[in-house]
Amino acid sequence: MRIKKVLASVMAACLSVQLLSACGKEETRISDKIHVGVTYYNQSDTFLNQLLDSFREQLKALDQEDLETTVTIRDAAGSQRTQNDQVKELIDAGCNVLCVNLVDRADPSEIIDLARENDVPIIFFNREPVAEDLLQWERLYYVGAHAEQSGVMQGELAAEAVLSDETTDRNGDGKIQYVVLEGEAGHQDAIIRTENAVDTLKNSGVELEKLSYQIANWNRAQAQNRMEQLIGQYQDQIELVLANNDDMALGAIDAYKKTDYTESSLPLFLGIDGTDVGLQAVLSSEMWGTVYNDEEGQAEAMAKLAVAVISGEGMEDLSFENEKYIYLPYSRITRDNVEDFL
Ligand code: BGC
Ligand code: CA
Repeated sequence: MRIKKVLASVMAACLSVQLLSACGKEETRISDKIHVGVTYYNQSDTFLNQLLDSFREQLKALDQEDLETTVTIRDAAGSQRTQNDQVKELIDAGCNVLCVNLVDRADPSEIIDLARENDVPIIFFNREPVAEDLLQWERLYYVGAHAEQSGVMQGELAAEAVLSDETTDRNGDGKIQYVVLEGEAGHQDAIIRTENAVDTLKNSGVELEKLSYQIANWNRAQAQNRMEQLIGQYQDQIELVLANNDDMALGAIDAYKKTDYTESSLPLFLGIDGTDVGLQAVLSSEMWGTVYNDEEGQAEAMAKLAVAVISGEGMEDLSFENEKYIYLPYSRITRDNVEDFL
């Protein structure tokens, strides 16, 4: 008798679970319209423009019979206030998931409040909010890469170049005179990349002498300008240029091109990103190497996550750290393997 009762209740429980999941399925179908609203800090950023081009493609690729996707992209033009307004506007226009590349990564509260009030999840990307902010609400995520890893890899590439070719030490004093072109102050990728690149070089046994650090805000023209000043100041003493991204490495190369440099007076240039222009510079040997900041992988993770947070399907295919973070690995690029990335 008791056994029968237990069996009956187990069967009832199974049935209701089945019913529930069937309902759940119905419900996801209905909301399988993914309207993504994107806002990013500045439309002049080479890396982000490439990342967002990939994102559009990746999202399109997920478009299927019962899944409709749209994307609207806004440029915050360097103003956090503008970005806050854009978020409001995107939500009002019916976006049901947001991808936000913060202008000020320390100031996401207003955006988070707006999203929470309207129950619109946010995928932050590339400019990482501080950990406490991501804990403000459970529907907040981040997609990016570990800055430290890119710095280490840049240092490894530089060490390899220096140790394999003694002419890099042009004045033969046993030390490598270097300058750093740094990204925006306060960006998670700027200082961490520099520190790790320099430490890795030192740990590889390369004697270093720092000539100067200059901030050029990820920007090619600013980097050219800073580099022109540095060339004026240090003449042919600079043996190595470590740039926090490809655009700044290219700006430095532009500066040398404006002087009547000889091939043998050029320093070694290293970037990070592997943007199209960066890869071309590695291919033509103008830049010794770069570190691939996997824009395609990041774009793919963002697209899949956007679909998953709305449809409830596919979360298990994504690899999270601490449940909210997706970090894509970097890779080293030199003349030897650049073709694999083109
Ligand atoms: C990239 C830079 C880019 C910056 C923007 C960095 O991860 O390496 O090229 O300008 O993000 O936030
Ligand atoms: Ca030297």
